[in-house]
Amino acid sequence: MQPLIKWPGGKSKEYEQIKNLIPKHTRYIEPFFGGGAIFFKLQPQKAIINDICEELIEFYRFVKGEKNKTEFKSCLYDYVDNWEKIPKYINIFENEIVKLYDDHKNNKIAEKEVREIITEKLKAKEDQFNGLFLEKFALDPNNLLQEIIKNLISKISRTKKVEKERGALPDGDLHKNIETAFRSGFYMHFRDVMNKNGSKYKTSLAKKIANYYFIREFCYASMFRFNAKGDFNIPYGGIAYNNKDFRSKVNYIFSDEVEKAFKNAEILNTDFEKILTRKDLNKNDFIFLDPPYDTDFNDYEKKSFDKKDQERLAKCLYTNKAHFILIIKKTPFIYDIYKNKKGIKVDSFEKTYLYNVKGRNDRNAEHLVIYNF
Ligand SMILES: C[S@@+](CC[C@H](N)C(=O)[O-])C[C@H]1O[C@@H](n2cnc3c(N)ncnc32)[C@H](O)[C@@H]1O
Repeated sequence: MQPLIKWPGGKSKEYEQIKNLIPKHTRYIEPFFGGGAIFFKLQPQKAIINDICEELIEFYRFVKGEKNKTEFKSCLYDYVDNWEKIPKYINIFENEIVKLYDDHKNNKIAEKEVREIITEKLKAKEDQFNGLFLEKFALDPNNLLQEIIKNLISKISRTKKVEKERGALPDGDLHKNIETAFRSGFYMHFRDVMNKNGSKYKTSLAKKIANYYFIREFCYASMFRFNAKGDFNIPYGGIAYNNKDFRSKVNYIFSDEVEKAFKNAEILNTDFEKILTRKDLNKNDFIFLDPPYDTDFNDYEKKSFDKKDQERLAKCLYTNKAHFILIIKKTPFIYDIYKNKKGIKVDSFEKTYLYNVKGRNDRNAEHLVIYNF
């Protein structure tokens, strides 16, 4: 099975590296779940999954049905339906936009006029946009409209500049750019909804998490980055994301196989230490750990993970009663806290194979696989 949500640091590929190492177990535990690539590969009968990120965990709780799945499903399909309708919306006025673009390109009208005309045209046809601008979905239809206009205008100016520098665009590219601008405007509005949820926008939890899912799915390269005010500021993924099969992904979220995967999974939202110090851990448990890396940029959802956290994690593992495998990018600091510890083995893998690093020059090693059995 594949993960349900796009998450940085997904471990689908690393599965091949560790699959032969995974010990027999009756309970699977994953304290840094993220997208949960290994969980979906293994499909354990019984599991504890945890992540510190609140929205992520709420998402899984809706998927599992611990929270109102019907409402969540309806909210998420609102995004799918409207996202799919975008080409239809564009069709309504595309010819006019193309003409406007040509006039602008040939210096017949200035950018200011382009803005005025586009605003007027979109406003006049708002009711033809079948639900996109309904308050229930858009929450602030005016902001959505403004974002779309803003993105269209900036795309038009940029395309003009590109054509001036590099010559005429191939047929169809203008259409793709208009579509990207429209989708980017849609995305930017809902990114605003995500950033101001609870202040400017008041939504149900189901809508909030559906919105969060939409943003994770369409933000550039599934990255996390926040500005000084703490707002998430990753832009729309761009042209390559226009034709993503969003509906299939959402269908998969609500499939029987996903329901089955979560059936016996306890879903928690806490710090890893609480999971790793549970009194009931024993050797029939297998813990898979994929913590944030020991680098400067390891902020998931604004919560940074520093050297003290890495040490705290190592301390929880030195004498853990459960079997564990930890995968982490190698840095001198990380190697130092795990090497030569009683009962702890440290291997390293480079792209396609696992090998033991003891006594060899491991400068090229990329990741460490640390385990206790
Ligand atoms: C590298 S990602 C996990 C990726 C995951 N294995 C996958 O395949 O998608 C690390 C995760 O640890 C979570 N995290 C960060 N600090 C944490 C903490 N103190 N306790 C639990 N989870 C934490 C982050 O929210 C992030 O989802």
